[in-house]
Amino acid sequence: MADKIRVLLKEEEVNARISEIAAQVSKDYEGKCVHLICILKGGVFFTCELAKRLTVPVTMDFMSVSSYGSGTVSSGVVKIIKDLDEPLENKEVLIVEDIIDSGRTLAYLIEVLKQRKPASIRLCTLLDKPERRVKKQVAVDYTCFTIPDEFVVGFGLDYDQKYRNLPYIGVIEQ
Ligand code: IMP
Ligand code: MG
Repeated sequence: MADKIRVLLKEEEVNARISEIAAQVSKDYEGKCVHLICILKGGVFFTCELAKRLTVPVTMDFMSVSSYGSGTVSSGVVKIIKDLDEPLENKEVLIVEDIIDSGRTLAYLIEVLKQRKPASIRLCTLLDKPERRVKKQVAVDYTCFTIPDEFVVGFGLDYDQKYRNLPYIGVIEQ
């Protein structure tokens, strides 16, 4: 049976907010080249929409990580499934994520990437669920939307690998 999905954020709302964030990022990185690191797979739709709206020079790389753990809870032990193709030395790195939940994935990832000596490292997320944060040290520089503690899908986010392609953000109704 098909799941019933309630729309939380409409496509137009999401794209309008991405345009605002892109303008802010373009301003903050003026005169520099921003190196976007897309965290696969969830970050891919947001990264593309963000990148298209940036007015500063952009380079991109992709990384895939998985949190060990079952179901919808991440364990904090992160495994790199696909590493970056390029070194980060002296680059202005902007990590692009779909959602920050417990913060465990990003807490680990930021430490790993810092060791590669980028000029700077910042974090940009489509969604933030601050109520669920365990790793309080994860500082998010750019957040499109802060949402309540609900499991969301669409715009890159999946439930059992499905619904990433929805052009809006929704909640699966039980
Ligand atoms: P964290 O390590 O707990 O912050 O986990 C973040 C990752 O969990 C995200 O990159 C998503 O892949 C996944 N995740 C967390 N919340 C949701 C959700 O509401 N929908 C879909 N995936 C989620
Ligand atoms: Mg993810």
